[in-house]
Amino acid sequence: MPIPRALAAAIADELQGLPSQTLKDAAARLSLSYRTQEAVLALGCDADRLAYCAARMPATYAAIETALAEVGDAFAAARSLLDVGAGPGTAAWAIADRLPGLAALTCLEAHAPWAALARRFAARSETSALRNAVWLTGDAATAPLPAADLVSATYLLNELPEAETGGIVKRLWNAAGLGLLLVEPGSRAGFARIAVARETLLAQGAAFVAPCTHHSACPMRPGDWCHFSVRLEREAFHRHAKAANLSYEDEKFSYLIAVKVKVPSPEGEARIIRRPMRASGRVTLDLCGKSGLARTTIPRSAGPAYRRAKMAQWGDLWRSRD
Ligand SMILES: C[S@@+](CC[C@H](N)C(=O)[O-])C[C@H]1O[C@@H](n2cnc3c(N)ncnc32)[C@H](O)[C@@H]1O
Repeated sequence: MPIPRALAAAIADELQGLPSQTLKDAAARLSLSYRTQEAVLALGCDADRLAYCAARMPATYAAIETALAEVGDAFAAARSLLDVGAGPGTAAWAIADRLPGLAALTCLEAHAPWAALARRFAARSETSALRNAVWLTGDAATAPLPAADLVSATYLLNELPEAETGGIVKRLWNAAGLGLLLVEPGSRAGFARIAVARETLLAQGAAFVAPCTHHSACPMRPGDWCHFSVRLEREAFHRHAKAANLSYEDEKFSYLIAVKVKVPSPEGEARIIRRPMRASGRVTLDLCGKSGLARTTIPRSAGPAYRRAKMAQWGDLWRSRD
C-alpha cells in the first residue's frame, strides 16, 4: 500500500517551499550517505529532512507495513505505542493504520526539528491517536523510555554505533509490555543490527513472531543476510526528488518482531528467505526453519504442495505439510 493520502499531501505541501534543485541535491546527499554509511540525518538541515520524507519515507513506510503484515494478532490488544528514533513519524503512521485500537502514541526522537515536522504531518492524520501523539526529544540510549504495550524502532539501529545495539535493544524491550518491532535496511549492516538484537532478545526470554519461526541460534551464514523486499509505487515527489524515471522501486529490509508471551509456531513451518526459483514443473524454495537453512524443490508431482509453491512469495511462511 502507498503511504496514506493525508501523509502524502502533507509531504507535498512541505515540499512546496523547497526549490527543486535543493531537494534533488539533498536527496543525492542522502543517497550517498546510505552508500557510505554516514548518518547525515542527525546533523541535517530542513532540506535534508524534507529529502528524507520525499525520497525515503515512502519506502521505509512500505517496509514497516510489510513487516506488520506478519504480526497476526500478536499486538491486537495493544493500546499504546512508543516509537523510538521516530524521525517524521513513519512507524507511528504505519502502526496506527494497522492497529486501530491504539489510543496513546509516544514518539521519541533525538533531534527537535524532526519532531516539529512530524507533528505537522500528524496533525493532518484522520486518526485521532496520531493527531494527539506525544512527541518527545531525547536520546534512545539515555532518555527515560515511557512504558508502552508495543515499542518500535525503525531504521534507527543502523544509524547508531554497532556496539550500542545490544544496550539500546534491552532498553526498548524493557519498555515494552507486549512486544517490539524492529525494521532496518536490508543490507549486511542493517541485518547485523537485527542479528545482535535477536541474540539480545533471546537472552531476555523473548519469543519471535516473524520472520523467525524458531528460537534456535540464527543459522544465517557469515557474509549472508536475512532480508526481504517490497515493491512500492513512487509518489510524484518521490520520483522528482530522486530524478527517477521508474514509477516504482524495491525496498530491501530486515526486521524482527518479538513478543513477551510465547506463541507456539505450527510444527514444520519455515520462512521463505529468497525469491522462489520457478522452473518448468518445479519450484525451489530457500527456507529458514527449526532445523536451520534448507533448500527444497517441490515438483509438479507433489500436487497441492506444488500449487502452493507456485503462489509462494519471498517472505511468506511455508508449511512442509498440507
Ligand atoms: C533513518 S531515520 C528513521 C526515521 C523513521 N523511524 C523511519 O523509519 O522512517 C533515523 C531517525 O533516528 C533519529 N536518531 C538517530 N539517533 C538517535 C538516538 N540516539 N536517539 C533517538 N533518535 C535518534 C534520527 O534523528 C532520525 O530521525
